[in-house]
Amino acid sequence: MAASISMPAAPSLETHAGLMDRVYRPQRHLYDLTRKYYLLGRDKLIAELALEADSTLIEVGCGTGRNLIAIARKYPKAQLYGLDASEIMLETARDKIRRAGLENRIHLRHGLAEQLSPRSFGVQDFEHVLFSYSLSMVPDWRAALEAGVAALSASGRWYVVDFADFGGLGFIGKRALTIWLKTFHVTPRVEFLSALEGFSGAIGELALLGGRYAFIFRSSPKLNWEICPASLWRADHSFLIKP
Ligand SMILES: C[S@@+](CC[C@H](N)C(=O)[O-])C[C@H]1O[C@@H](n2cnc3c(N)ncnc32)[C@H](O)[C@@H]1O
Repeated sequence: MAASISMPAAPSLETHAGLMDRVYRPQRHLYDLTRKYYLLGRDKLIAELALEADSTLIEVGCGTGRNLIAIARKYPKAQLYGLDASEIMLETARDKIRRAGLENRIHLRHGLAEQLSPRSFGVQDFEHVLFSYSLSMVPDWRAALEAGVAALSASGRWYVVDFADFGGLGFIGKRALTIWLKTFHVTPRVEFLSALEGFSGAIGELALLGGRYAFIFRSSPKLNWEICPASLWRADHSFLIKP
């Protein structure tokens, strides 16, 4: 049996949505313009998704919908879903999706990543679950990942692109970036990254961007996993589950 680790309780939707709205209200119109310079790796991950026709994908923490719109254009038959805690970001996303004429293919909901439920979107499960620079903002990122994995179909895959540990950027670069991100309530999930570095071969592929600035993880299909992703964050790794 694994030792249980006590985790901080996730805030309620009301509390966390309020915080996210305060973070994003002043910046939402400049968000896409500015983030393209530092939320690196998103387009690479989208370009390499290789979705099957008619497949379903949810982006957890979809923000302004820029990734979902890019995915919808690249995969014209995919059905896409987006969940976000910030109503302010969702308002921008709805507007952009309407202007792109994609309302019939991209379905949005307000809610917490930690409580993701495919039923709230009227589906059984998703074939693909994407976290793009969201786990570093979700307070209980383990619960979010667990909910994402639970929402996958039997052959489903999950993907993460997010900040890495800045290990190749020197002491000052690392420190400056960490402090600056904190002002946006962003915390790179370094413990998750190091777990992935130890285990990724057993469930998927990990790629690091230059300077260990960001990482991209692509899981293999659920059917092929040799371990349960929950074991990635159990302190003693004793939760290894073979299929
Ligand atoms: C840095 S933005 C990334 C947006 C988008 N995925 C992208 O790549 O541009 C992080 C997003 O995660 C959302 N978020 C943060 N915590 C969340 C939570 N607990 N549940 C759902 N969404 C959350 C924020 O509101 C924000 O829209």
